[in-house]
Amino acid sequence: MAIKSSMRGTSAIEDSLSEASLTEASLPQHVAIIMDGNGRWAQKQGKLRTFGHKAGVDAVRSSVRYARKKGIKALTLFAFSSENWKRPKDEVKILMQLFNLVLSSEVKKLNKNNIRLNVIGDLSAFEQKLVSKIRKAEDLTKNNTALTLNIAANYGGRWDIVNAAKKIAEDAKQGLVNIEDISEDSFGAYTCMSDLPPLDLMIRTGGDHRVSNFLLWQCAYAEFYFCETLWPDFDEQKFNDAILDFCQRQRRFGQTGEQVSPENQGQG
Ligand code: IPE
Ligand code: IPE
Ligand code: MG
Repeated sequence: MAIKSSMRGTSAIEDSLSEASLTEASLPQHVAIIMDGNGRWAQKQGKLRTFGHKAGVDAVRSSVRYARKKGIKALTLFAFSSENWKRPKDEVKILMQLFNLVLSSEVKKLNKNNIRLNVIGDLSAFEQKLVSKIRKAEDLTKNNTALTLNIAANYGGRWDIVNAAKKIAEDAKQGLVNIEDISEDSFGAYTCMSDLPPLDLMIRTGGDHRVSNFLLWQCAYAEFYFCETLWPDFDEQKFNDAILDFCQRQRRFGQTGEQVSPENQGQG
């Protein structure tokens, strides 16, 4: 399907999306984004890296707005990895302050828009005050149903898997789980976001083609979309480009193209 590059603006987004969804697979239910490129975006303008992190907050807002509008059920944003502690102390400090500020300024709006906020990652490294604020925000929004917004903070895919293994081992020790019964499904239930639809699409901005220890378990059958755009420039149109690309793909999950083609659906 040709997507006219001259199409810009909200109505163009609507037109191109409905055109794509008519002919191709349905919209992703769960999208994750590795929001990369803040530092380079700022440095290109001769500014400090932290200026890029602040600008990145606007891109977070527009992505949430887009996901909410399109009816995507879950949006998972990589905000701070378990490896990002290795950055200069001042940058880590600013990132923590920014996280704190954004929580204060955005939670009411999220709640008003029927968005559930969920923070995934090892929170034991955060200050108790920040953890309480996160838990309060999660509690306030827990019954919201339009979109689940997961913020990955001090998150690592390997941590997620090890954490699940520890929890299942604990349950086995207490006799709640039989080792013979452990399956991909039952193990998966101990990983982050097992209550949400499976990950359909993983986007990485900033030009690098790697996973950087994000959602290792969950990305098993996700589609990947990489773009050069630096995160602060990732707007609704850019998000829409990624969704359109996704809608044109054939997801085979191990089967052949013929098996999953629409003509053969429902024929066993
Ligand atoms: C992503 O942008 C934000 C975080 C990792 C917190 P970067 O800060 O990694 O920006 P680049 O990749 O250095 O440009
Ligand atoms: C991944 O970006 C982490 C986040 C976006 C939060 P990084 O910039 O930390 O990734 P690497 O170090 O280039 O792999
Ligand atoms: Mg980076």
